[in-house]
Amino acid sequence: MVIKSFLAKQLGNPSGIFGRFLMKLLNRENAEMNDLALEQLNLQPEDYVLEIGFGGGYLMDKIAATQIPSCIVGIDPSIDSLQVGKKKFNKQIAQGYIEVKQASAESLPCCHRFFDKVCTVNTIYFWSDTKSVLHECYRVLKQGGKLVICYNSKAFLEQTELTKYGFTAYEVEDVELLMQDSGFTEIATTSAHSAGNGLFHCTSGIVG
Ligand SMILES: C[S@@+](CC[C@H](N)C(=O)[O-])C[C@H]1O[C@@H](n2cnc3c(N)ncnc32)[C@H](O)[C@@H]1O
Repeated sequence: MVIKSFLAKQLGNPSGIFGRFLMKLLNRENAEMNDLALEQLNLQPEDYVLEIGFGGGYLMDKIAATQIPSCIVGIDPSIDSLQVGKKKFNKQIAQGYIEVKQASAESLPCCHRFFDKVCTVNTIYFWSDTKSVLHECYRVLKQGGKLVICYNSKAFLEQTELTKYGFTAYEVEDVELLMQDSGFTEIATTSAHSAGNGLFHCTSGIVG
């Protein structure tokens, strides 16, 4: 019980030596989820991309490796995650290709209508106000811009008991409805399985 509570806190805010170890582990364990998010982003040349809650930086690394977008911004409230990102993307930050900032999804430090794509993987469980986060995503996306949210199934989070330790779990219908209420159109969900994450979902929507 103490271990699960500690792990749940670390997943929501990786910190210290354990947090840094966890970020490396997440880069491996969540690879399939992040790969699905990358696929769903359908990156286009000159895209401006924002990742919310980049953790150990696996997805930003994959996005950068495509060399398709013009610019990638990552935000995460964890100071350790920020430090890991600064070190990992040292060269791309110096070149002005990647930017990392300490911030939360609830208040994005970004201009209106700046990004073509916004993505986030395994962070929705920690949002204090899902509606305001979705409004923030809508605000920073350009007309026709795409939001991609990847998350564990509610059944998986209940089975692992993370819902008992502060994780908010969502059914696909909940996420789709919340996105629709926030103004997104062309909402669609793709689901997949992985050994570490069981069933997971990737829901996307377009700023209409
Ligand atoms: C479970 S980790 C997932 C990291 C990575 N996206 C992945 O899939 O491996 C959750 C990440 O979300 C961040 N996070 C927690 N609450 C957040 C919030 N309100 N807004 C943005 N990021 C948040 C944490 O600091 C952590 O880096």
